[in-house]
Amino acid sequence: MNDEIEPILVGDTDDIEIGSVENFEYEDNNFAIFRLESGFFSTQGNCNCEERAPLSEAEIEDEELECVSCGNTYSIVSGDCISEPELDGLKIFDISEEDGSIYLSL
Ligand code: FES
Repeated sequence: MNDEIEPILVGDTDDIEIGSVENFEYEDNNFAIFRLESGFFSTQGNCNCEERAPLSEAEIEDEELECVSCGNTYSIVSGDCISEPELDGLKIFDISEEDGSIYLSL
């Protein structure tokens, strides 16, 4: 039996500018979709701590995001918390590009 879930179409690659992030909602879950110089990345849509700040509002610098609420910084690539490494990291998801479209794998 094949348990693999089909990748989910997020949108066109041109929908997101390099150096920016968009929120993507799928089945009541939010995902943050980042487009960096090095490609597309995805994390959970809301930050970990109590404030649950939307990561689509985060500041981006190179491959790091800064949460607008608490100011913690995370690697967009690994999800690790950089400012306070003892904090839980962000969940990251596979994202791929094909024929001008972006797909998320859960
Ligand atoms: S909401 Fe607290 S670090 Fe993002």
